[in-house]
Amino acid sequence: MIDLHSHVLPGIDDGPEDMTGSIALARAAERDGVQTLAATPHLRADHPRVRLGELAERCEELNARLAEVSVGLRVVAGGEVDALWAQAASDGELRLASYGQRGDDLLLETPYGPLPDGFEELLFRLGLRGFRVLLAHPERNPTLQREPERLAEMVGRGALVQVTALSLARSDRGSRSRRLALDLVKRGHAHVIASDSHSADWRAPDLSAGLAAAAKVAPARAEWMVNEAPAAILAGEPLPEPPPERSRRGARFLRRRA
Ligand SMILES: [Fe+2]
Repeated sequence: MIDLHSHVLPGIDDGPEDMTGSIALARAAERDGVQTLAATPHLRADHPRVRLGELAERCEELNARLAEVSVGLRVVAGGEVDALWAQAASDGELRLASYGQRGDDLLLETPYGPLPDGFEELLFRLGLRGFRVLLAHPERNPTLQREPERLAEMVGRGALVQVTALSLARSDRGSRSRRLALDLVKRGHAHVIASDSHSADWRAPDLSAGLAAAAKVAPARAEWMVNEAPAAILAGEPLPEPPPERSRRGARFLRRRA
């Protein structure tokens, strides 16, 4: 599996404090079945220790340490871009914040409070500047929980959606974020499941739990959301068609004939 959202780099945002914590997180992700993990530290005014020019080197340093301790997972550079930060950023800065620093795909943090009126305009402008946007965990936003059609419109205009594994796998069945996350998967409006992991213990890597929960509503799409779709995003390529879901009736028919 490929996990496109994590805070695995040590000592720069609210992820692990040191390299030992980063190795523990990466090891837990590998055990969970992840082969490629994007390091997406917060690019936001309240995280001044995240410096764009250092990200590639920090990922290389972490990959070298992981190889030394026999963790086979590979870390690729990215960033979790705050809306205000993105508005002020130059094209060069956005490129350094993009997946693999390729200048194609950005992970944009959905605001936690009410969604500002200009949010869609920001998405549109990033598109005009040549970036495809993956919206991080919109299912946690109160405005979008109340007005899911606003999110459907953004998806219709080309935005991609990342739902968080924990939102899908919550045991609290009345949770609004769980309900919206599952609904997005069912309607084909979500494209990626990611962990948004912060450490091996707190917000631990749990992609497989999210995959299992999503597979209950759309098994073929759920697999696509942790493999083919994130692979295309890392490569800056168009997303391949998601596989069709086999109907329940068809599945019963096939079982009877088997
Ligand atoms: Fe995050």
